[in-house]
Amino acid sequence: MCGIVGAIAERNIAPVLLESLKKLEYRGYDSAGLATIENKTIVIKKECGKIDEVDQKVNLKDQKGNIGLAHTRWSTCGSVTKENAHPHQDCTKNIAIVHNGIIENHSELRAQLTHKGHTFTSDTDTEVIAHLIEENNQGNIVQAIAKTLKQLEGSYALGIIEADNPHQLIAARKESPLIIGLGEKENFIASDAPAILKQTNKVIYLDNEEIAVLTIDEVEIFDLDGNKKEKEIETIEWDSEKAGKQAYEHFMLKEIHEQSSTIAKTLEQNIEDNIDLKEVKRIIIVACGTSWHAGLVGEFMIEELAKIPVEVEYASEFRYRDPIIEENTLIVPISQSGETADTLAALKEARTKGAKILSIVNVKGSSIERESDAVLYTKAGPEIGVASTKAFTAQLTVLYLLTLHLGKLKNTLPKDQIANRVRDLRKIPLQIEQAIEETQHIKKLAKLFYKKHHALYLGRGINYPIALEGALKLKEVSYIHAEGYPAAEMKHGPIALIDEQMPVIAIATKDDRTYKKVISNIEEVTARGGVVIAIATKGDEEIAKKVDHVIYIPENSYILTPLLATIPLQLFAYYIATLRNHDPDKPKNLAKSVTVE
Ligand code: F6R
Repeated sequence: MCGIVGAIAERNIAPVLLESLKKLEYRGYDSAGLATIENKTIVIKKECGKIDEVDQKVNLKDQKGNIGLAHTRWSTCGSVTKENAHPHQDCTKNIAIVHNGIIENHSELRAQLTHKGHTFTSDTDTEVIAHLIEENNQGNIVQAIAKTLKQLEGSYALGIIEADNPHQLIAARKESPLIIGLGEKENFIASDAPAILKQTNKVIYLDNEEIAVLTIDEVEIFDLDGNKKEKEIETIEWDSEKAGKQAYEHFMLKEIHEQSSTIAKTLEQNIEDNIDLKEVKRIIIVACGTSWHAGLVGEFMIEELAKIPVEVEYASEFRYRDPIIEENTLIVPISQSGETADTLAALKEARTKGAKILSIVNVKGSSIERESDAVLYTKAGPEIGVASTKAFTAQLTVLYLLTLHLGKLKNTLPKDQIANRVRDLRKIPLQIEQAIEETQHIKKLAKLFYKKHHALYLGRGINYPIALEGALKLKEVSYIHAEGYPAAEMKHGPIALIDEQMPVIAIATKDDRTYKKVISNIEEVTARGGVVIAIATKGDEEIAKKVDHVIYIPENSYILTPLLATIPLQLFAYYIATLRNHDPDKPKNLAKSVTVE
């Protein structure tokens, strides 16, 4: 939700900021802006639109100066207008500020500041911060910022520059992510690592209620009472080339294609050394969106093989009720970004009730990682496309590894069975490549269906969450209304919607549990004139006689089919979105990292 970058250097900084900002566009893209200091004057250019559109309109990269800030916005407070785009300033135009987060007491503060004579030019909570710093400034900007931060309620990651002092850039954070990048005679701030990886891979993770003061030569960190803090410098392993689009037209397509290698990397990890799980009697998975779907698959895996009861909760719901957490309950937050506000809040709620936290995250150094007792990493690398693809299948891989580990600890899985199951898992990377070979066929199907207005996704058992995920992918990148349903539930309502205008995508992989039942559900659809695309197991010729179209995936054990069935659904959503001329990497209204409630 909003991306911020800032830098202080010896070189002209606008082109660097612009390039870095584009790497953060997945966080929001309704408007963008850039500020630099030229001859002790702050120069700001900002406009509505995606970063490239804004650059074309106002030529962001031509700004001069060796200190600056840039921002790409996902609006929360105030509509999408040029006035509401960041950076924002105080009355005297002495400071410029970029912000990611939400200030909850902005209305009260705005009223007090207006009463004191401050004039506002936008509807944003961010501008309130700029005026409050101005109000608190007695000549020492760092002290003024610290005082201001104590008056704010809510979340913030901030970058601040001051015309009077063009030799320092100031940053602060609370509940919204911010990292400091350390270069040679230059230093950076950014919401996320991919933005600065081309410049440096040495970073400091700023913690809550810390203020960083950056000059060309050094970075100093303070708490809000002005005490200096020592911080660890960490090295990020992701490389900037991998974070680029390479030959693919979109990040989403690149990330779909990467899944065989990201799963291969993810499955190499050893779960044993992480946390003692012997006493665990109950597991609660908390997550949002696609990560929540991964949790539903995890519930199936863990209950089936490790025989531990699992509940899967929307993090946003969990945090606002009074969940019962008994002794030996393990909380498993799942999050690609590691920054999702609701998941983080659910984790904290569970911890106050005494639960142990084992997180599954993709982004190292993220808030969820740092708040957890132990972490299992999805090794998907930077996921830039807003719609989650490779992080999802990496989450499924980690959940399966965790299941096998729990099965071993609880003696529900004999050694030889574990070895066989690991062998099956190791087949997945190659099988994903085989599933991707269906691309031309999937493209043809996308051409047949891209003008439809609705779609229904059906699955049963472990593939029911994959029906939910397929529907979510189509919705978010193509804007076609889609619903995922457990196949048998269809006749309790949605069957009323079936006609030739509503394609039904049914996951009907061959197994001895649900296959026949799903076939019956498919027949209920075709009997009513519905058009069915089946996701089926390679070699199943019979199903082709029963449905209109089939997409085949390779055969593996039932419990691993979600990892394969997901692939054609991702590709289908991607090609439909591009046929409808939508940018799948930046769906409207969405942001990759949802750091507000
Ligand atoms: C959908 C999608 C979102 C995220 C959700 C949680 O494609 O990407 O639904 O899954 O916002 O995000 P993380 O996993 O970062 O907590």
